[in-house]
Amino acid sequence: MRKKIVAANWKMNLTLEEGKKLVEDILAGNPALDTHNEVVIAPPFIHITQTVAQLNNISHIHAGSQNCYSEASGAYTGEVSAPMLKDAGVRYVIIGHSERREYFKETDALLAKKTDQALANSLQVIFCCGEPLNIRDADTQNQHVADQLQASIFHLSAEQLKNVVIAYEPIWAIGTGRTATSVQAQDMHAHIRQTLAGKYSQAAADNVPILYGGSCKPSNAAELFACPDVDGGLIGGASLKADEFLGIIAAMKQH
Ligand code: PGA
Repeated sequence: MRKKIVAANWKMNLTLEEGKKLVEDILAGNPALDTHNEVVIAPPFIHITQTVAQLNNISHIHAGSQNCYSEASGAYTGEVSAPMLKDAGVRYVIIGHSERREYFKETDALLAKKTDQALANSLQVIFCCGEPLNIRDADTQNQHVADQLQASIFHLSAEQLKNVVIAYEPIWAIGTGRTATSVQAQDMHAHIRQTLAGKYSQAAADNVPILYGGSCKPSNAAELFACPDVDGGLIGGASLKADEFLGIIAAMKQH
């Protein structure tokens, strides 16, 4: 049985003090997870040692990072490497978020290298894909997302794929309050799973958690997570408020 995961992507938000309080409040809500239900918290880099310390000895809640660099070390001013993240106690790394692709011009080829770096350092990858509005309007989103997977993760072995989680995030739904309908989400998640099955095997595809991201909140999480191929969510705005994030975790546990 594949895992369900709710992952918090704090983006570039919160002071250290605010981040500490948010994690305290989430833990105070006692989300009580098990091996099939995991939570990931991905704060800005500067929070990571604090977040890791707060989550030490807490089962099934792991620290993540929002990015890593494509090289292990060297003269890359301002970057943070996968070995550093592993050493700091990080479990997951988000790669290919649409904001990284858009604002930092991250290409498919760079994302393939970042994925390799993360996996080579025993980090689990949350690989993001998703289409902009013009592609959705042209109804070519399936090809767009298949191309993203092909370009950045299809060079991996089936063994490596076991450490990859996919996050489908339609760009038109991120931070806009406009969520994909559960039918749109399910259709795309099924397409992603079928694409993975075509490249690897049905068994390999069935093991990959596929998360939905884009204006996910407690009021729509239950309906989205009820879809057979939606295995949780990557949460931006609603992950910055403990009660909302706990509500989304509760929705994951119901399904
Ligand atoms: P949102 O962001 O939940 O604020 O829409 C999701 C994401 O970008 O990961």
